[in-house]
Amino acid sequence: MSRLDERPDDQPDERPEGPSGEPEIRVAGLHKSFGDNRVLRGIDLEIRRGEVVCVIGPSGSGKSTLLRCVNLLEEPTEGRVYVGGTELTDPDVDIDAARRRIGMVFQQFNLFPHLTVTENLTLPQRRVLKRGKAEAARIAAANLERVGLAEKAGAYPSSLSGGQQQRVAIARALAMGPEVMLFDEPTSALDPELVGDVLAVMRMLADEGMTMMVVTHEMTFAREVADRVVFMDGGVIVEDGAPGQVIGAPRHERTRHFLSRLLDPAMADVEEGTSGRAGPQ
Ligand SMILES: Nc1ncnc2c1ncn2[C@@H]1O[C@H](COP(=O)(O)OP(=O)(O)OP(=O)(O)O)[C@@H](O)[C@H]1O
Ligand SMILES: [Mg+2]
Repeated sequence: MSRLDERPDDQPDERPEGPSGEPEIRVAGLHKSFGDNRVLRGIDLEIRRGEVVCVIGPSGSGKSTLLRCVNLLEEPTEGRVYVGGTELTDPDVDIDAARRRIGMVFQQFNLFPHLTVTENLTLPQRRVLKRGKAEAARIAAANLERVGLAEKAGAYPSSLSGGQQQRVAIARALAMGPEVMLFDEPTSALDPELVGDVLAVMRMLADEGMTMMVVTHEMTFAREVADRVVFMDGGVIVEDGAPGQVIGAPRHERTRHFLSRLLDPAMADVEEGTSGRAGPQ
């Protein structure tokens, strides 16, 4: 075998089909300011169909803002965003139609407390997609089954654990038939023992070939499930590569600093004591 046949990194491709070459999400020259606060300072990112990209980085680095710009929950100050070949930043685009391709899951589950689990899943399908009652119910049931919560169909959110509520929120997003899924720290609000079930559902979606952009601090998940890890700091992408490289052998000091802080918050400042870098905001 020639050297050209070797993979450029040590990342084994465990996903059966692997991502295809087509970009499903493309962000080009993205800037976002809030007043004088320049939060995103030129982001270029492509995520291919079926690819799972984990975004990591310190608090305030702009991870959520980037995710929110991808489905135009925030309007970029400058730059372009494409999803599935459609430019969302085109002023003439049908943004509601474009957004339907994108599922989003937040740290907070945002379920309606006065609606049952099934009703939480059928309401947006009926309102946004104009599906009939029976069809919406059928799709709700299928997606509750997918996240392992078929038996909770008639329950109210308050009777569910945080992990179960987050899985309902994922099922609600899936019921809309998205082409891509965006996750913003989906397990950060959960008790540690509930994190695993949510990550298992996300792992299943990845295995099914869903295109996913995941802001997370779950390094084991990033290592095992992501095709790429993107490290952001100060509104720019500092490092973008295979998980084994970015997490296992980071090239940049800022990435190393972040990872050491994540692994041992008390030690990070000692190790990096001479760097003069400000602490987290
Ligand atoms: N709607 C907004 N209005 C004004 N400033 C905002 C808004 N949203 C975010 N910001 C600012 O943008 C910066 C980046 O915030 P963002 O939430 O994107 O960071 P993050 O990387 O997701 O952080 P965390 O890890 O804490 O979630 C912060 O300084 C924040 O105060
Ligand atoms: Mg955030």
